[in-house]
Amino acid sequence: KRQEKNIQHLLRERLPADMLELLRLAGRTGREMGMDVYAVGGFVRDMLLGIPNDDIDLVVEGDGVAFAQTLGERLGARIRPHLKFRTAVLILPSGQKVDVATARLEYYEYPAALPVVELSSLKMDLYRRDFSINTLAVHLSPAHFGRLVDFFGGQQDLKDGVIRALHSLSFVEDPTRIIRAIRFEGRFQFRIGAQTERLIKNAVRLNIFQRLSGARIRHELRLLAEDAAPVAGLVRMRDLGLLQAIHPLLHFPPSKERLLEEIERVVTWYRLLYREEAPDVWIVYFLGLVSGFDATSVDLLTSRLQFVPRRTELVESTRRQLRFMAMQLAQWGRTNGSSAELYDILSPVPLEGLLYAMAKQRKQELKKAISRFLTTLQDVHVAISGADIKAMGVAPGPSFSIILEAVKRAVLNGRVKTREEQLEHAARVIRSLGERPVS
Ligand code: CTP
Repeated sequence: KRQEKNIQHLLRERLPADMLELLRLAGRTGREMGMDVYAVGGFVRDMLLGIPNDDIDLVVEGDGVAFAQTLGERLGARIRPHLKFRTAVLILPSGQKVDVATARLEYYEYPAALPVVELSSLKMDLYRRDFSINTLAVHLSPAHFGRLVDFFGGQQDLKDGVIRALHSLSFVEDPTRIIRAIRFEGRFQFRIGAQTERLIKNAVRLNIFQRLSGARIRHELRLLAEDAAPVAGLVRMRDLGLLQAIHPLLHFPPSKERLLEEIERVVTWYRLLYREEAPDVWIVYFLGLVSGFDATSVDLLTSRLQFVPRRTELVESTRRQLRFMAMQLAQWGRTNGSSAELYDILSPVPLEGLLYAMAKQRKQELKKAISRFLTTLQDVHVAISGADIKAMGVAPGPSFSIILEAVKRAVLNGRVKTREEQLEHAARVIRSLGERPVS
């Protein structure tokens, strides 16, 4: 039975003031146009869980595109309508996005003078979605603002921590939902319900992944990799037979499970450094999944997952570089190489490769070396420039880059630090090159 309660107080407590105002304006605008407007989906789910979520999804009972046009004008937003799907995206000046979808009101006229019935199109719209926890809606019309609409027991499942599909064909209609279910398990520490798990196993038996495009699978795997606890998700996928269904080569043994867990630790560590360059986390996990494979096997997987050529090339070249790097790094460790030499070995490798290599590395001192490169060495920069060399009286030419490179190595090795020290070191290099600095 449909339960209703008002969660206005939660909206006020948990949402930023401008977002709350936006929702009120959406409700008022709808009312003026004779349409009911609801906030739905992940936005409502996360609000109830107390998790911030900026992706506002609205469903309008009526003409969603016309509604979006009016609301967009009032908000000074850019409007991207998709007439075919009767949807629109609003992009506010702040960058905030609002998705608007249409739920058509449908009237069924019965013959023989029975009354016209109005089917709740909101309910139809929500029924087409994936899991009960994503079917909650909040009424935004002024007279009902904050009323929680729960057709499918979403509140209870949110309380119990259960991922439940709405009907038995859900996964056959859209197999990517299986990966979504696993992603939600990891993200919220929820559990796929028993009946829903049976539906998943059944869908796997029906081989529904076979007709799913590589691009769609890849997209879901990428989202999984970027979410919390990806390894638990990958293990779950394997245990349900999903990875094997995507491609037999994706099945991984316990030894690889440990490598993937180490990748998760390294990625988490790197994220906590809050560095500007964000790695493509999915590629790091992919390198882990194909660890130990030959080029042909990797090729089979990148084809199945429809990697774009640039990605395939990145994976292949990184794997080549990593093999070379591993040898050089081992040699560097044996010979107690300098920081400048470490820099030379690691700087050509893309960040994704370095994170994978750090996870893969068994020797603690070499693991530390990679981590030292990522945290400090790669930031080392020279505080002097060609202009300084020129000011020291050296004629422009090939010696410029030799001098600057020598200064950089001295900085990497920690021998010089400040700009003053760097200028002094440059002068020493110039002298030993036989150039004559102006005193
Ligand atoms: N949806 C679905 N089937 C899918 C993908 C999405 O039914 N394969 C529905 C879900 O009900 C979801 C809504 O479309 O609530 C919006 O999708 P999306 O923004 O991807 O979902 P969120 O639940 O917000 O998930 P995330 O937080 O990961 O973006």
